[in-house]
Amino acid sequence: MSLTDRYSLKPEGLEHRVDEAYEAIFNWQYSDSRTDLLQLYDKGKRMQWDAQTRIDWSGDIDEGNPMGMPEELFALKGMPLYEKMSDKEKGVVRRHHQCWTLSQFLHGEQGALFCAAKIVQSVPDLEAKLYAASQTIDEARHVEAYKKLLEKFELAYPMTGPLQELLDQVLRDSRWDMTYLGMQVVIEGLALAAFAGIRDHATNQMAASVNAYVMQDEARHVAFGRLSLRDYYPQLTQKERDEREEFLVEACYLMRDRFESREVWAHLDLPVDECVEHMKHSEGQKMFRTFLFNRIVPVVKDIGLWGPRVVKGYEQMGVLAFADVNVDALQAQDEEIAAQFDARRKHIEEVAAVAAE
Ligand SMILES: [Fe+2]
Ligand SMILES: [Fe+2]
Repeated sequence: MSLTDRYSLKPEGLEHRVDEAYEAIFNWQYSDSRTDLLQLYDKGKRMQWDAQTRIDWSGDIDEGNPMGMPEELFALKGMPLYEKMSDKEKGVVRRHHQCWTLSQFLHGEQGALFCAAKIVQSVPDLEAKLYAASQTIDEARHVEAYKKLLEKFELAYPMTGPLQELLDQVLRDSRWDMTYLGMQVVIEGLALAAFAGIRDHATNQMAASVNAYVMQDEARHVAFGRLSLRDYYPQLTQKERDEREEFLVEACYLMRDRFESREVWAHLDLPVDECVEHMKHSEGQKMFRTFLFNRIVPVVKDIGLWGPRVVKGYEQMGVLAFADVNVDALQAQDEEIAAQFDARRKHIEEVAAVAAE
């Protein structure tokens, strides 16, 4: 099934093209000295999974709340206009907003697929090329999983402007490290935090499982960015590092704004500015926007892009305290939680088998 007829808001054309220009680098050394990257590559190979079979796609969907998210986490919760709506009207707004969110994940995953494939060719080290190839198949699987989820929810949205803008910029940049910085550090770091909110709160098992399993892979992708960049950035000149820091601060602001979901409110004939204003001031949304950065900030510090521009930017965004988050511990936890999802499904199937005897 294609998503063409599921778009609530039609995308501008069914394709979007980006001009890229970068060098494909052959490496004849076939070096194996980057054991950290090779270990990650081995892990990537060992932890492959099949989205069709690992997830139980047979469940029912609650139309007014497809992901089964708690009402208090909804973006417009507490806004008088929303609170006055009937349950049915609220359900429509919730469904559109959830499908918009998942659509951004889906399109972002397609972007990640391109970025991983671009790194395969453009990064100089062979160890990194091998790992990026394993990430490429991970991203294909993520596209598959989110597409299937949207198919179940029967509603899709085009890619939001700020995300498209950042992806286009990252793809057009010919410097290999900028692909990592935009994708592995900013977009995937932010995605991890957004996925976690769904994994930990959704009562719909399909939505929770997709996010838990994708997170298990994404944690490796963020680690890949860290390992590759923290060796590279100290070798650059201060001017070159400054350019990266400038990009980083702009990209973080752009990504924070992408969560305003203006096109959903506009499509549903809601007052867009009022909705965005509500989200800016609601305590729950403020926490959400801050939490989005708990995975990015410690990685940025770790890769050595920690000049005054970045520190000031993060201070203004109120996310500087995340600098000391232990990302290794979070990654271990992501893997543990994915294993718990597997165990729960196995248990349910065993109980069902006994009941059927
Ligand atoms: Fe992904
Ligand atoms: Fe990824």
